[in-house]
Amino acid sequence: MRPHNLISFAATAALSSPVTAMTLAEMLAAQNATLSILNGFLEQQQALFNAFSSTPDITVLAPSNAALSSLPDEVVDRVSSDPAYLTALLSYHVLNGTYYASQLTASTEPLVIRTLLNSSAYANVSGGQRVVAQLLESDEVILYSGGGAGTTIQTRDYNFTGGTVHIIDGMLSLPASLSDTLLARNMTAAVGAIRESGMGDGLDAAGEVTVFAPTNAAFEAVGSLVADMTDDQFTNVLAYHVVQGAVMYSGMMGNGTAVATQGTSLTFLAAEEGGMFVNGARVVEADVLIANGVLHFIDAVLNPENSEATPDPTASTQAPEFSGASATGGVPFTTGVVVPPPPLSSTSRAVTATITVGPVVTGSGVMDTVDMVLLILFGFLGAIFNI
Ligand SMILES: *[C@@H]1O[C@H](CO)[C@@H](O)[C@H](O)[C@H]1NC(C)=O
Ligand SMILES: *[C@@H]1O[C@H](CO)[C@@H](O)[C@H](O)[C@H]1NC(C)=O
Ligand SMILES: *[C@@H]1O[C@H](CO)[C@@H](O)[C@H](O)[C@H]1NC(C)=O
Ligand SMILES: *[C@@H]1O[C@H](CO)[C@@H](O)[C@H](O)[C@H]1NC(C)=O
Ligand SMILES: *[C@@H]1O[C@H](CO)[C@@H](O)[C@H](O)[C@H]1NC(C)=O
Ligand SMILES: *[C@@H]1O[C@H](CO)[C@@H](O)[C@H](O)[C@H]1NC(C)=O
Ligand SMILES: *[C@@H]1O[C@H](CO)[C@@H](O)[C@H](O)[C@H]1NC(C)=O
Repeated sequence: MRPHNLISFAATAALSSPVTAMTLAEMLAAQNATLSILNGFLEQQQALFNAFSSTPDITVLAPSNAALSSLPDEVVDRVSSDPAYLTALLSYHVLNGTYYASQLTASTEPLVIRTLLNSSAYANVSGGQRVVAQLLESDEVILYSGGGAGTTIQTRDYNFTGGTVHIIDGMLSLPASLSDTLLARNMTAAVGAIRESGMGDGLDAAGEVTVFAPTNAAFEAVGSLVADMTDDQFTNVLAYHVVQGAVMYSGMMGNGTAVATQGTSLTFLAAEEGGMFVNGARVVEADVLIANGVLHFIDAVLNPENSEATPDPTASTQAPEFSGASATGGVPFTTGVVVPPPPLSSTSRAVTATITVGPVVTGSGVMDTVDMVLLILFGFLGAIFNI
């Protein structure tokens, strides 16, 4: 059969035998009213499609027409000649295992799920790059992908012979490097501090990292001290924010401990009243996925000389872990750190794309800037429409 005919043949088959279990191609064709753009794309990518559709026991996250419809022209060219990137993007939309809606809605704890994306050029986490599924009170399920971008599952459980399909209202974002993610999330002080320490390239190249990144406000609160630190002290403080060789998603931290790269322990608290803490710092956003691990944003700079610091889970902000520290009226390390403009911001279509693809949900753990969505989607949508 010519690749060209596969989808339409499948549609015929689906119509003529509605009670028979469908193949993935048949199931996607049967939902063509919502998925015609994706189907049109997959028709042109038979080899890729065959590779993942023949994998048993999968969940396909299929972006709807609405998710793919308002595309600026410039995205089309972005990754036009990079089949490896395209493969990575598609395999990130396939979960390794059949996750029915009933499993995704069983608990309000975030569920960290493996995908088929395991190419080391795009992901250095063993067992495949993850997405994080989170059930909201509204009964919606959000899927968090690279940089904390959130995508909502729109309709659920289109079962086929090898698993199930959920239709999603935006593209997932491929997790990017630590530096690019911090920059896209406007964590300019962390970016500047990492640059100043010279640790950036090493961190980006390392496999399996967990990074606790203080917010700009956290750096600002200890501004008086950082200026006085020696290079060694400064590097020691920064290295205390990194665990190497373990990707610790929030659900794995519990009330445990981990040893940071410079040798001192970090202590985690999953507080009774809610909230996750590292030493005395609150995790203000957890499970932000990066190419080689996971990032958690925290509200204080951690101090390896004060590893006994404990939080007050009832307080909205935590005391700095450096005694005698004070703000000096600016955010340290941010000189020369420039956040790239959202790639699509110059066009009105970009705004449409933002609303469609990046459901911005308020509340903790949820992406609150659209820049990241746009930055990474930019590449993804280009891949999809490069046909
Ligand atoms: C899906 O819809 C598109 C556009 O309406 C159409 O061109 C295509 O043939 C349809 N595909 C199938 C499998 O029905
Ligand atoms: C999917 O998971 C199985 C084990 O559950 C593993 O053997 C397989 O390698 C995984 N596939 C990928 C692409 O990671
Ligand atoms: C990635 O997954 C493919 C398909 O399951 C498998 O053949 C390959 O060995 C995996 N590669 C790594 C590095 O795990
Ligand atoms: C994964 O690790 C290898 C070797 O350590 C490195 O060359 C590659 O750039 C890394 N990939 C990512 C996505 O971080
Ligand atoms: C798909 O299978 C799951 C698990 O058996 C079931 O809960 C769901 O209702 C099925 N979906 C449809 C549309 O039948
Ligand atoms: C990024 O941070 C800077 C400095 O903290 C602030 O002035 C700016 O408004 C922030 N931009 C966004 C998009 O949040
Ligand atoms: C962690 O320890 C605190 C204080 O001892 C306790 O209140 C809380 O329930 C524990 N959390 C978990 C997840 O066990």
